[in-house]
Amino acid sequence: MSEKKIALITGAAKGIGKAIVERFVSDNYFVIAVDVDDVSGKLLTDEYGSSKVLFVKADICNEKEMHDLFIKIQTDHKQLNVLVNNAGIIRDNMIWNMPVEDFDMVLNINLKGTWLLCKEAAKMMKQQNFGRIVNIASRAWLGNRGQSNYSASKAGVVSLTRVLALELGKYNVCVNAVAPGLIDTPLTQKLEADVLQKLIEAQPTRTMGKPSDIANAVAFLASDATNFITGQTIYVDGGKSIGAGI
Ligand SMILES: NC(=O)c1ccc[n+]([C@@H]2O[C@H](COP(=O)([O-])OP(=O)(O)OC[C@H]3O[C@@H](n4cnc5c(N)ncnc54)[C@H](O)[C@@H]3O)[C@@H](O)[C@H]2O)c1
Repeated sequence: MSEKKIALITGAAKGIGKAIVERFVSDNYFVIAVDVDDVSGKLLTDEYGSSKVLFVKADICNEKEMHDLFIKIQTDHKQLNVLVNNAGIIRDNMIWNMPVEDFDMVLNINLKGTWLLCKEAAKMMKQQNFGRIVNIASRAWLGNRGQSNYSASKAGVVSLTRVLALELGKYNVCVNAVAPGLIDTPLTQKLEADVLQKLIEAQPTRTMGKPSDIANAVAFLASDATNFITGQTIYVDGGKSIGAGI
């Protein structure tokens, strides 16, 4: 077994995923960072060094790539302490304008990709009798206009988290979700300035969150302090989920 704890983080090349990598490196984990974006992803190894981070270019929706990745983790490290399912995309539109392809793509990456990694991790963690899975959902699972695909995918992630907590609890594996609100990342930087401003004004805090705000919650759920917390969704959203922001 490795001396360091091993964490697998998806969508690790930028935004929230990169902040989670940074936090886990500083918490002394060896991080396996997965992303389809190998240009940004390779910079992680340059930044942290190959003794701390291994970047793997892979698509979380590709069943064979995910299966092979877990065989490599088993062979090289013999254990996986934490899986963080962070990779996700948006393709927003009102339902009457939304192409079916955008529904399929969002569900495929956000839900099926997360499910595939959970499946591989569940097999390994059940066997080793320990582990933590943290799924990045979204406050939007409660409902957002223009996000019928995305909100449904993240509702699926919350539900998946609850089911896996039931299935894996007796194997000493805790499964929780973090539901971010509006966080300043390349994903939200693509929004029109006036749209972004309105979203910020609807926040109880009148601020956006930082990627490190999410990384802090993930690190907490991965820590030994949370052995009795499972199946839960923690909102890190500046209070937006309370519902009376506007
Ligand atoms: N930024 C926000 O305000 C916000 C709010 C709520 C939830 N989230 C969720 O947080 C997570 C991270 O969001 P972000 O804002 O950092 O996004 P981002 O677009 O900045 O980064 C997402 C990363 O995931 C990678 N990725 C996309 N598809 C992939 C695939 N098939 N396989 C592997 N990697 C893939 C991308 O290349 C990218 O590096 C997502 O699940 C998102 O839904 C974000």
